[in-house]
Amino acid sequence: MGIVGAGVSGLAACKHVLDKGFSPVVFEADRSIGGVWAHTLESTRLQAPTTAYRFSDMAWPESVTEAYPSHHKVMKYIRSYACKFQLLKYIKFNSQVLGVEYLGATEEEIMSWEQWSSNGTAFGTGKDGGWRITVKDLKVGDTQVFQVDFLILCIGRHSGTPNIPKIPANGPELFKGKILHSLDYSYMDNVAHFVKGKHITIIGSGKSAFDIAAEVAKVNGAVQPCTIIYRTRHWLVHKSSIWGVDLSYFYLNRISQLLLHKPGEGFLRYMLATALSPLRWAISKVIETYFKWSIPLQKHGMVPDYSFSFAMSSCSIAMLPEGFYDRVDEGSIILKKSKAFNFSSDGIILQDRKERIKSDIVILATGFRGDQKLRDIFTANWCRKIVAGSPDTSAPLYRECIHPRIPQLAIVGYSESLTNIYASERMANWVAHFLAGGFKLPSITCMEKSVAEWAKYKNVYNGKYFRRSCISTINIWLNDLLCQDIGCNPKRKKGFLAEWFQPYGPADYEGLSCR
Ligand SMILES: Cc1cc2nc3c(=O)[nH]c(=O)nc-3n(C[C@H](O)[C@H](O)[C@H](O)COP(=O)(O)OP(=O)(O)OC[C@H]3O[C@@H](n4cnc5c(N)ncnc54)[C@H](O)[C@@H]3O)c2cc1C
Ligand SMILES: NC(=O)c1ccc[n+]([C@@H]2O[C@H](COP(=O)([O-])OP(=O)(O)OC[C@H]3O[C@@H](n4cnc5c(N)ncnc54)[C@H](OP(=O)(O)O)[C@@H]3O)[C@@H](O)[C@H]2O)c1
Repeated sequence: MGIVGAGVSGLAACKHVLDKGFSPVVFEADRSIGGVWAHTLESTRLQAPTTAYRFSDMAWPESVTEAYPSHHKVMKYIRSYACKFQLLKYIKFNSQVLGVEYLGATEEEIMSWEQWSSNGTAFGTGKDGGWRITVKDLKVGDTQVFQVDFLILCIGRHSGTPNIPKIPANGPELFKGKILHSLDYSYMDNVAHFVKGKHITIIGSGKSAFDIAAEVAKVNGAVQPCTIIYRTRHWLVHKSSIWGVDLSYFYLNRISQLLLHKPGEGFLRYMLATALSPLRWAISKVIETYFKWSIPLQKHGMVPDYSFSFAMSSCSIAMLPEGFYDRVDEGSIILKKSKAFNFSSDGIILQDRKERIKSDIVILATGFRGDQKLRDIFTANWCRKIVAGSPDTSAPLYRECIHPRIPQLAIVGYSESLTNIYASERMANWVAHFLAGGFKLPSITCMEKSVAEWAKYKNVYNGKYFRRSCISTINIWLNDLLCQDIGCNPKRKKGFLAEWFQPYGPADYEGLSCR
């Protein structure tokens, strides 16, 4: 059993396969566990409450009382999980997987199968199928080859491979300053020294862009304002409740799921969701009104063009750094909208406004190419081609973790949710049951049909961000399917009212072990 990655997804996978009696080897390129949490901005905090960002079988310590703890505390929590379940001894650190290659059947044979791995089970017929893993020891420099019967990829979406915008030719060469990605920034020590007194321009309007701007503003103030150049306004909000009611009551309980269409929902649910969609619209409007009233979005021209409900269902929502608009008001941060930009020798040119922004350092907070990273880990072209879908489709993963055509392999942590640890751990648990023979996968045709239904959902509710594979507001729907597959009752709450109205979260699945 091989696992690649020891972020929260890899650790969850390791723990759950151990529970089923397997002995995994975890390959981790870094020198420590934690993935994105091991290298991040000093100001990074958890964006979700600790009750939502946790493993099902380990609550946060009572000593952590703040709603959104710092990344140091998140790392401490992740470390204690690894220690509690004695996971560290299974991890090979500084071990970068250079490539993985399927051994056994040829591409043609695999494409002719009607069942996944030839017979719908984790290990196929057991006839020399498996994965060859080429691993580079980053400390020593040598390369070793391992062979495993089953491989779980937990390599993360928001780490490793930066998304670098396509910039018109010659632009970057002209520019005399420094260009870096938010990923490079998050690995830097002493960023205050790096940005002090410099003209900083940040591209992007996601959480990384806002966090970096807030850090720079703290160092340089209004004397040397930093500029954010954005093309889309997003819902970055200061809290996860309105008038004291947590947003999870509107989006993360069973009742809220009745208001939206779900993959493979059937006629009655379809009709109900259609009838109730005005209610979903109304809820969104109320929440938007609250945030427009409590954050000076209108004043700064930062009201998004899309609904709050869309932000929730497409994972586009994020937490605003503390006092962000105070920094904008005092002139430490300047916000500029522009669809496209290029470089000049001394900074950035906003193409649609023909405006120049003097810059010493340009930070591309333009997100990550998790799809590229996933493709690149495969040696065979046929796997690279199909694993993450095409530019027009989301990654075609059955139950968000199995590619119908790639045998003896699962991918955990690719699809996103509002709290990723919650989604990843459910998938890890499902994969472990599958490995232990708890159930068989349906035929490849059935899996592909299901994948197509989920893709349809993502096109509607993730819109132009369909490639994020965000399952946030139907996480319960997915968890129900995962529970049914492994033979567990998906209804995890005590009592009718709790079942329908209480938000679902990781703790509801504590100790889940069925069949
Ligand atoms: C700064 C930041 C803050 C975030 N905050 C939140 C939050 O508050 N709430 C939330 O829900 N989500 C948050 N996220 C999203 C975050 O990505 C997930 O919550 C979660 O931590 C992802 O875990 P993972 O294990 O799937 O991936 P990662 O954390 O990315 O871990 C992947 C691991 O795989 C290893 N790896 C990759 N490729 C290879 C290879 N070829 N060989 C060997 N090892 C490899 C990497 O070194 C890494 O350790 C945040 C993301 C970022 C960037
Ligand atoms: N807990 C924390 O404190 C924390 C901190 C950082 C990140 N995170 C999480 O990590 C994940 C990644 O966040 P992120 O902010 O790094 O990436 P992101 O959410 O993917 O945002 C990328 C931003 O870059 C913009 N962009 C991409 N390509 C561009 C181009 N060619 N030209 C101009 N703009 C471009 C995008 O604009 P469009 O929207 O127009 O595409 C978007 O605003 C998110 O889930 C986030 O919530 C959490």
